[in-house]
This record gives sequence, structure tokens and C-alpha cells, in this order.
Amino acid sequence: MNKATIAAAAPASNSTTGNDWWRSAVIYQVYIRSFRDGSGDGIGDIAGIRERLPYISELGVDALWINPWYPSPMKDAGYDVADYRDIEPLFGTLDQATLLIAEAHALGLKVILDIVPNHSSDQHAWFQAALVSPAGSPDRARYVFRPGRGEDGTLPPNDWQSVFRGPAWTRLTEPDGTPGEWYLHLFAPEQPDLNWDNPEVREEFESILRFWFDLGVDGFRIDVAHGLVKQSGLPDIGYADRDELLGPPSEVDHPHWDRDETHDIYRGWRAVADSYSPPRVFVAEAWLADAERLSRYLRTDELHTAFNFDFLRAPWRAAWLQKVIDDSIHATSLVGAPSTWVMSNHDVVRHLSRYGREQSDRQMHSLVDMADMPVDLAVGLRRARSAALLMFALPGSAYVFQGEELGLPEVEDIPDELLQDPVFEQSQRVDRGRDGCRVPLPWGGEAAPFDFSPDDANAQPWLPQPSGWAAFTAAAQDGADGSTLELYRAALRLRRSEP
Ligand code: NOJ
Repeated sequence: MNKATIAAAAPASNSTTGNDWWRSAVIYQVYIRSFRDGSGDGIGDIAGIRERLPYISELGVDALWINPWYPSPMKDAGYDVADYRDIEPLFGTLDQATLLIAEAHALGLKVILDIVPNHSSDQHAWFQAALVSPAGSPDRARYVFRPGRGEDGTLPPNDWQSVFRGPAWTRLTEPDGTPGEWYLHLFAPEQPDLNWDNPEVREEFESILRFWFDLGVDGFRIDVAHGLVKQSGLPDIGYADRDELLGPPSEVDHPHWDRDETHDIYRGWRAVADSYSPPRVFVAEAWLADAERLSRYLRTDELHTAFNFDFLRAPWRAAWLQKVIDDSIHATSLVGAPSTWVMSNHDVVRHLSRYGREQSDRQMHSLVDMADMPVDLAVGLRRARSAALLMFALPGSAYVFQGEELGLPEVEDIPDELLQDPVFEQSQRVDRGRDGCRVPLPWGGEAAPFDFSPDDANAQPWLPQPSGWAAFTAAAQDGADGSTLELYRAALRLRRSEP
């Protein structure tokens, strides 16, 4: 990395004051179900986040990103949204959300929400209306309905596969009981894809953005940001294998990832965000194989930042990391955007458990790719601690996934019958999915539930915690010399004082 590129990407200031805060912010990811349970039902909630805002603030981060908290049947842990303008009752109320935003702001923390525009829940009022409306009706035109192929339409409209495995199409039974049209779902069948060619869909999402911006929210993380636009005619891809979330190499014209027309949507969103004072911001979840294609989302009239999944997926190897860092800084500097750095999130094996395995020469992030590789957690912890220091020293913004500051490993032995991720069943139980990084945080105490819930709670945490987590609790590490929590706090203090 040369000095000129570092200077170009370097933060002007390292605080949340000023409109450019997002260029250098450290953002703490709150996976709400698993952060802290305030109500005692074993599921994390807004009350729990409000209780622990001082913890987040003392860690030394600038902002929090909260995973979807909207009403949802929870077929994909909230990424199946039934109502984009309210709060899931399990998590709290809109009034509590408003208080949380104000309390975070009072501590100098920005609040970023998660918006899910590629698909809604099948329980969303729009999809329910589509189900009882005829083929070709305006209600169906908000989603992607098509007749089937083959005799009597018994074959799906094309060969697209769900990211969660299996066909990306499900056939409807029409209200009169006859087999009918098929609808597209790039994820679970309960997550029908919206039709972004329909102006009504575009208007609705801009209005949803305004709803939350008016409540004081500072920005959005955009789910599956590269998937919204589908190629007209919905052509076959030509292979019937699992469709990876990762977009194709730049030379491939893929019918549903990274279509050029997608950028137009985000120009509209940017105009909405810029109409606020201070302007609101976006971070794209766009899994692209090509750093230059990714940087197109970050042109000055589009999104502000995008997760750097090349960094997240890189093996712990110096040359590999150096190349990813150089390439990322180069690609983002072409459009004047900062790079973002991230090692873990709620979709991938915790980096401590990735780095604790033999580091091969390939990118890896799913448990299914590494379950049979032996893991040395002591090695993983040492590498994870070094990695944090590396990440916080890089120019740009950085993400911390809740629990990484406690040195938590992936929980790889959750009993089959307790797994919740739809990936497990949809993969015919081949892929155990993402629950292992979503286990509720240990806050204190000597035994499960490690103060995840209040003392008088009437339920166990929604996923079981390992019995040996006493040493990982925030209470055990608070003030303890050499603990991972204190390492994170010290590193973030240093980052602030030496931008
Ligand atoms: C990406 C989210 O991070 C993941 O958790 C979710 O399953 C898919 N998008 C579908 O919304």
C-alpha cells in the first residue's frame, strides 16, 4: 500500500461529529436476538440493547448496526419482513425504538438499521394480496410471478437456484384449488422476491427510508444490495447447481446478480439520504467477486460504503491479506470512497474459529466448508487478536460483530434438533447453517445463561450456550489484564487518539 493511497483514504477526523463520520467509523453489529434479553423470554430485544448501550459506548465504537427488528414470522431470523414500518413484538415497540435512538445519540453513537429490499415475508400484506389476486393483476406485479414450463406448467420458469439451496421457485395453489403460477424466491420460499421493475416498489422503499430517517435513524445496511434487479425475460443461468450469494466475475453477465440497472435504484436512495440534515448513509451488503465492480456502488451519487467480503474471506496469510488490502484501497479510491473492513458477521463462521484451522489457499466462510478440519482455538484466538489490531489500523471504517470483542469462538456442536437456520432443512441437513455464530452473548456469571436474560427470566436463551463460557463473559473480562475485551477497548482508544 503506498502512502498516497493511504492519505487519500485516511479519515479527516475520527469521531461521529461532522457529516463524514462514516468514512472512519467503527460500527458495532448488534444481532438483536442474541445481544441481551431485557424481557426474560430468552430472546434479545430493544430493552436489552438500551440496558447495554453504555457497554457499546465504553467499547469505543462510533455507531451500532442493528439487524432487522421488524414484525416477522422469523423464517429467516427477521430477514423475512412482514411490515417495514413497525417493530417485531418479540423485540419491543416503536416507542422503545425511538427511545433507543435518542439514548444512543446522547452517548454519541449513530444508529444504522437493516433494510431488506430484495424480498419481503410471504406474510407481508402485499404478498397476501397477490395470493388472492389473479395472474397478471397489479397485486401480482409487485412480485415475480410466472407461469411454469412444460406440460401443465409443472416445471419452474427457469433454472435459478435458491442461495439456501433447492429451486428458487415455488408453485402456487390458486384460490380455486388449481395449481397456478410460480413465484421467485432467491432465499427461502417464505421470502418472495419483490419486482424492482415496478415503480410502486421503488416508491414504497423510498417512503420506508423516510419513515426511519424521520425517526432519527442515521443510515441503513442494505441486505442483498446486488440482487434487486433481474434480467428481463428471466433467462436460464445454465447450471442447476447451488446459486452462491457471491456475484460472478466481472465478465459474466449474470441474470440476477449485480445488474447495471441496480445503480439507478441507489441514485434515488442517495437523493433521499442527502435530503436530510445531517445526510443519512448506506452500507451495501453486496457479495461481488470483483473489487472494481463493487466500487461502482460507491460512486459519489450512490452508496457510501460496502462491506469488504474479500477481507472477511481471506485466509490468515500475510501475502493474501496484503493483496486484499491493497486492492480494496485502490478500488475504492478510484471513486473517492473509503474501504470498510470486517472479519465476522451473523452469516459466517466466527473468524477466531476460521483462523484456528489450517489456513489453506482458498477463501472460506461457511461451516460446511470447514467442519471436518481440526480447530485449535488457542491459535485462533492469537490470530484473531492480531487481526483486530491490523483491522483497526487500516484507513476506512471497520465493523465489529458482537462477541468478537469477547474472543468468542463459533459454537459448532449445537444439537440438530435445536438448529434454527432455514439453511439446515433447505440443504437436506447437509449444511448446519449459521446458528453457531448467533449464540446469545455471555454477560456474566459462572453458568448458562451467563446473564443473557434477567435473573427472573422464564425461558432459556433461544440457542443454547456452551457450558464452558464463564471465562468469556464481559464481566470476567472487564478490567482484566490481557483480556480480549480490554484489548479491543485499548485498540479503539488508540485508533481515536491517533487517527
Ligand atoms: C443476507 C443476510 O445477512 C442473511 O442473514 C439473510 O439470510 C439473507 N441476506 C437473506 O435476507
